[in-house]
Amino acid sequence: MNFDEKVDRSNYPTLKLSKVFLSDHFGNADAFPMSVADMDFKAPPSVIEALQKRAAHGIYGYEYKPETYFAALTAWYQNRYGWEIDKQQIETCPSILNAISILINQHSDEGDGVILQSPVFFEFRMVIKSNVRRLVKNPLKLIDGRYQIDFDDLAAKAAQPENKILILCNPHNPIGRVWTKAELGEVAAICEHHGVFVIADEVHSDFVFPPHRYTPYLTISQDATQRTAACISPAKTFNIAGMVDAMAIIPNETHRRRFHEFAHRYQINKVNVFASVAAEAAYTNRADWLDALLVYLQGNVELVRNFLRENRIGVSLVEPDGTFLAWLDFRELGFDAKELERFLALEAKLALSQGYWYGREGAGFARMTIGYTRATVHMALEKLASAVQKISAT
Ligand SMILES: Cc1ncc(COP(=O)(O)O)c(C=O)c1O
Repeated sequence: MNFDEKVDRSNYPTLKLSKVFLSDHFGNADAFPMSVADMDFKAPPSVIEALQKRAAHGIYGYEYKPETYFAALTAWYQNRYGWEIDKQQIETCPSILNAISILINQHSDEGDGVILQSPVFFEFRMVIKSNVRRLVKNPLKLIDGRYQIDFDDLAAKAAQPENKILILCNPHNPIGRVWTKAELGEVAAICEHHGVFVIADEVHSDFVFPPHRYTPYLTISQDATQRTAACISPAKTFNIAGMVDAMAIIPNETHRRRFHEFAHRYQINKVNVFASVAAEAAYTNRADWLDALLVYLQGNVELVRNFLRENRIGVSLVEPDGTFLAWLDFRELGFDAKELERFLALEAKLALSQGYWYGREGAGFARMTIGYTRATVHMALEKLASAVQKISAT
């Protein structure tokens, strides 16, 4: 476990390094890539060994997910979070967004509203639009540097009968909040009362810094589970997103059967041999690796916080409870959203996800992925500081 090891990814078609991707999104093919939410750390050694062993076998025909896979997965959630996942309730599919798209289809009709708590992961908006649903915002409130859910507004939106779904991001990308049990309880009570179906995207669940705790949404209440699906995957935790494998946990039997039939109809229920091997190896006794990663990431957060404080460049960190994402507040610099985008990509030469991509509530902010070696994060901060100093001097 050496998170300081620099790994060259340029010899593989890494999305975030693609010159086309960088010029399309940032107008600068040479901007340093820190927008995509994958880390630059190698997967746990046990995952690499298991994949090497499987690759050496030489036959990669049709397979199913073995009992050992489900045992490793369920033990992980039970041991770490006290969440007893019933294996029968697990539906597998290629990706989290894939599951969300199916769930939107099955629990709403065209033109219905889907509630989002902006600023939030921008791909949710795209899935809502591509399913011809209406985006309904329940914007988060930033109070004393901490984002909060506006429950009154959520209740008002949930009370409108055409708003059928809430996509809950727990922990929340990009702002790094890990919703507490009390907050989730309130969300559940509102959605339950108004019959709103909750899709809980919990892909970042393993990235939580003490004393914060991840509360699986499905553990909130027996009632809440009947109109809910939780989406999880090992992709982010173990940096294996390229394996393309995810799960929807759907407690309600009728809902689950519908999801299952859909997956069967569109034949998206196939098993990727390597994805199963990687996930099983990761979930088997890799708590030590994750714990070490969390300590390292907290060190990166500390670096960002201290660097910005000490250098007084008019940029500050919104303190995260978890995730490997730093939500940076640039409002003091006085740029509008487009000026900030231009400044970051062309002057600082950093490809950061622009705050406004996550909804207009994110304007003036940008998201930096900090799943990098400490030296790399430091280098990015230096680039930022020197670009700010340059404009301040003119
Ligand atoms: C909150 C959230 N959900 C879903 C995804 C994408 O997951 P997948 O690649 O499995 O669709 C991401 C990736 O950044 C994410 O941050």
